[in-house]
Amino acid sequence: MRVGVPKETKDNEYRVGLVPSSVAELVHHGHTVLVEQGAGVGAGLIDEDYRAAGATLVEGQDRVFAQAELIVKVKEPLATERRKLRAGQVLFTYLHLAPDLTQTTDLMASGATCIAYETVTAPGGGLPLLTPMSEVAGRLAPQVGASSLEKAQGGRGVLLGGVPGVPPAQVIILGGGVSGTNAATIALGMGATVTVVDRSAEVLRRLAAQFGSGLGTVFSTRDAIAHLVRRADLLIGAVLVPGAAAPKLVTRAMVKTMKPGSVIVDIAIDQGGCTETSRPTTHSDPRYVEEGVIHYCVTNMPGSVARTSTFALNNVTLPFILMLADKGWKQALRDDPHLRAGLNVHAGEVFCRPVAEAHQLPAASVEELLKG
Ligand SMILES: NC(=O)c1ccc[n+]([C@@H]2O[C@H](COP(=O)([O-])OP(=O)(O)OC[C@H]3O[C@@H](n4cnc5c(N)ncnc54)[C@H](O)[C@@H]3O)[C@@H](O)[C@H]2O)c1
Repeated sequence: MRVGVPKETKDNEYRVGLVPSSVAELVHHGHTVLVEQGAGVGAGLIDEDYRAAGATLVEGQDRVFAQAELIVKVKEPLATERRKLRAGQVLFTYLHLAPDLTQTTDLMASGATCIAYETVTAPGGGLPLLTPMSEVAGRLAPQVGASSLEKAQGGRGVLLGGVPGVPPAQVIILGGGVSGTNAATIALGMGATVTVVDRSAEVLRRLAAQFGSGLGTVFSTRDAIAHLVRRADLLIGAVLVPGAAAPKLVTRAMVKTMKPGSVIVDIAIDQGGCTETSRPTTHSDPRYVEEGVIHYCVTNMPGSVARTSTFALNNVTLPFILMLADKGWKQALRDDPHLRAGLNVHAGEVFCRPVAEAHQLPAASVEELLKG
């Protein structure tokens, strides 16, 4: 199969779909890998490394899109990239379609087969291709939150860990899954007072066992959230309802009760964000102020630590990429129910139920599709 790796074009996105060792693996399996010149340079991966791994370097993304049967990316295709997709082509990348009707309809119009990293599942539950990026974003959140609390960024001027005699910052984390747990690890390590809110008693039990009495755990209710938000210095949004738009747990009225200069880092912004005042931002302009509160809502947080993120992503995507390339998408989906869960759009139809529901579109059945 001809596998194509275009350079990412999203603002400040330096990750790349395949690292040279993944390319070598595909080449070893008999596939041709077309890599756009300079695709990995932002992650410190130079063209020479790709050439040595057996890739064919091509100039410009047009040739990658025109020639590849399987496109491997990191972020969702931008409008210009979407226009280059075609029927019969497979796209394997993060898509996050539930909050993005334009992208959904463009992908439907392209006729391509679009498999989303974020809805691929694992035997023990969970979303294995989202996990490493959630780990990165979770670990980054207290770091960017701490710098946002500094006066120079418009923050309250509060040091996350405090100092002896001065209390630390109050960090409230909504969602105790992968990103929430990683955010808690770092925030606690920085010396903050940390509380995690989740709607799953099981998750709260796991957190309590993992962190002991150093971490506050609270069951998610509207009341509890309103109370905690009021006293937060740093609020981290880390909730997820798989495939669906993020629930708006924090209303504008709640944000109004926050202290001036306090900070919201909404990791869940890629699914629409979990506060009513969140809107997507970029690494080049990451923050804005709404109701006196600094908002950091970058949709591709792991892009700022591109090297760590690229390797972490490749570790989990490579087995699926090999499956798709070796067997073709249809057989790969027949053989693996977890990869099958990744099918979002094919030949103009939506196959991921939460995405279909979010846009009030009919959901087609992947089982029916694969019968043929
Ligand atoms: N901005 C970025 O760059 C970036 C990077 C990686 C991941 N993400 C996003 O971060 C979000 C979280 O991902 P994750 O991997 O940590 O998910 P996860 O599934 O591991 O955890 C989500 C948690 O949210 C909880 N939850 C759901 N509804 C809730 C509610 N009403 N109240 C309280 N808790 C609730 C769930 O019980 C679960 O524990 C996702 O939207 C993901 O796409 C963003």
